[in-house]
Amino acid sequence: MNIEQRVEEILSQMTLQEKIGQLNQVKAPLKADEEVFEQIRQGKIGSFIMATTAHAGNDDTVLTENLLINKMQRIAVEESRLGIPIIYGRDVIHGHRTVYPIPLAAAASFNPELVEKCYRNIAREAAADGVNWTFSPMLDLCRDPRWGRIIEGPGEDPYVGAVMAEACVKGFQGENISDKDSLVACAKHYIGYGASEGGRDYHRTEISDYNLYNYYLPAFRAAVNAGVGTVMSSFNDISGQPVTSGKKYLTDILRGKLGFDGFVVSDWDAVSQLKRQGVAETDADCAELAINAGLDMNMTDRVYINNLESLVESGRVSEETINTAVKRVLKIKLQKGLFQNPYCDAREIDRTVHLKDARTLAAESMVLLKNDGVLPLSKKSRVALIGPFVRERRALLGSWTLDGKAEETANFAEAMKSVIGANMLLSDDNIAVLDNSIARAVKADVVVLALGESEKVTGEAYSVSDISLPKNQVELIHRYKVLGKKVVGVFFCGRPMAMEGVAEYLDAVLYAWHSGSETANAACDILFGDVVPNGKTAVTFPKRTGHIPMYYNVTSSGRCVNCYYGENPQNCYVDSLPTPAFPFGFGLSYTKFEYGEIKADTDEILLDDLIDGKSFKITVNVKNTGDFDGKETVQLYIRDKIATVMRPLRELKGFEKRKINKNETECFTFELGYDKLGFYTENGEYTVEKGEFEIYVGENCLTKNKITVRLT
Ligand code: GLC
Repeated sequence: MNIEQRVEEILSQMTLQEKIGQLNQVKAPLKADEEVFEQIRQGKIGSFIMATTAHAGNDDTVLTENLLINKMQRIAVEESRLGIPIIYGRDVIHGHRTVYPIPLAAAASFNPELVEKCYRNIAREAAADGVNWTFSPMLDLCRDPRWGRIIEGPGEDPYVGAVMAEACVKGFQGENISDKDSLVACAKHYIGYGASEGGRDYHRTEISDYNLYNYYLPAFRAAVNAGVGTVMSSFNDISGQPVTSGKKYLTDILRGKLGFDGFVVSDWDAVSQLKRQGVAETDADCAELAINAGLDMNMTDRVYINNLESLVESGRVSEETINTAVKRVLKIKLQKGLFQNPYCDAREIDRTVHLKDARTLAAESMVLLKNDGVLPLSKKSRVALIGPFVRERRALLGSWTLDGKAEETANFAEAMKSVIGANMLLSDDNIAVLDNSIARAVKADVVVLALGESEKVTGEAYSVSDISLPKNQVELIHRYKVLGKKVVGVFFCGRPMAMEGVAEYLDAVLYAWHSGSETANAACDILFGDVVPNGKTAVTFPKRTGHIPMYYNVTSSGRCVNCYYGENPQNCYVDSLPTPAFPFGFGLSYTKFEYGEIKADTDEILLDDLIDGKSFKITVNVKNTGDFDGKETVQLYIRDKIATVMRPLRELKGFEKRKINKNETECFTFELGYDKLGFYTENGEYTVEKGEFEIYVGENCLTKNKITVRLT
């Protein structure tokens, strides 16, 4: 019997109430609860979410004990009428006990192979603790660093989002979703949540269909194509339509256009929130709207279990609609193998390799934004290590970390001491001990400032109205700059911070992000040259909050004021120059890379040939002209010069990260075909139009290295 037949067989035996039970996800209790046990026995609970609060990432939630997980599963399997197993879900966002860089940092690694390997590690650890299903990857494209959740996603580019979506889904789900070390993944938050107005969490969004298809959907399309088992609907409305009850989004586009065939789970209490959104009066109305829109499983507010039976009896919801949702849930449970292996075996996991991979990915995610030559530091240099983050542990793990342990996380002082020992002159520095720290700095060859932002101003429900660095940290920078010493700023942040009036005072800027369990060690690996930095930012660094939104893949103005690309920024604001502090794709190395001219194997190609599957090649030589072997992420952008609708000034369509040894040259080749040169119309139809395409290949989106190819 195949899975479809098995699903039909189980469904045929289910009562209406048992069916609705499969669509009900509730908070897992942390201790035995007879009322919950009885609901399991009656088939009223299909899933548990292992979280204790609505934004688990910021409230140190605890894991349900394995014994209780198995106890409740045993009740479902052995004491309920049909023995349908529970599926356990948890926010295993970018790590379990071993924590990897926040996704915005991991995207900066431009290393999907390494990300996939790390996410395989994460799945192994979480599955061993009884987790079947993770509410990750978060794929919300975002151009507004005020939004705390920008840290959870892949940044501002659809192509990077798609590449990372595939890597994360394949990492979590592995070769076979039923493997004991695999988790069912969940592409979230579908869709448009990253456009929350003003960067204020949970606020409305305004996204045209044209922009939805071309900016916000590609990452989800890639997740669906990678076989993601579930999708989570988002809190936001799009132009007045809540996604939670949006059939256009949950069914017509997600299933009709993307071909998704798993199940959709709501976000926390999102179904009952339709009342506050003003499209429903009662919980019954909420349930009717959501289930009829295609939202299959209801997270935590019990609106389905409390209302669907009467809605079916009254004819407002058909049993066929319920059956459709239940079949999707049963199919995932069967594919996960829960019927054969419902219990967690709480096996021990050796995390040695996981921690090594975490350190590698952290180092590849860190971005060197400035270096006047002071880096790398000699291991013999005397370093005055000063600042509020010298002993910080918890923030380095990032906000969405439920199972990482701050006490197991090396801080910057420990990491640096392990490299240079007594040559580290340490001070927490705050204004009160000014003399003490100045004294240390005077004796040192170089000052390293440990700066950053707390995890408590990033993540869910933690947005900010100002992305400036805290004033006391700016003061620290200015103070040490006047000492005539070289000053290196290391930033342990989640979001891109405004660097105007900051970077200018530093001789080097290393953006270490919140890069997980090995953040501090990886930062030292880079500072002392054991790793040559190679991260490239996947999000623009605006100079100041007032310049937001600022993103590279913007369409052209009718006037000569494309300030992102340096066109007359003085005409954009009278009080500042809105050019990026650091543009998309930017990141320095300790070595230098020289790009040769771009070659194409044709300067004209027939559109019909592309439609027939032909493509053309772009090649470029890149020489390492510096003193270190290093990795470079060569990026290919296009610009569709003339189209029936406006197209962005640059669109990333390819990248390749490769090691190039000093004094050596590597040839990079990209293939451009029909799938890389088009766009989606507002009806979601993919099209490629004739005309002139500029092709750019370089070290970031501002590269001037280009050729032109004509489509005829
Ligand atoms: C939260 C978040 C979502 C998370 C879910 C379960 O409100 O929006 O990302 O997966 O609830 O914790």
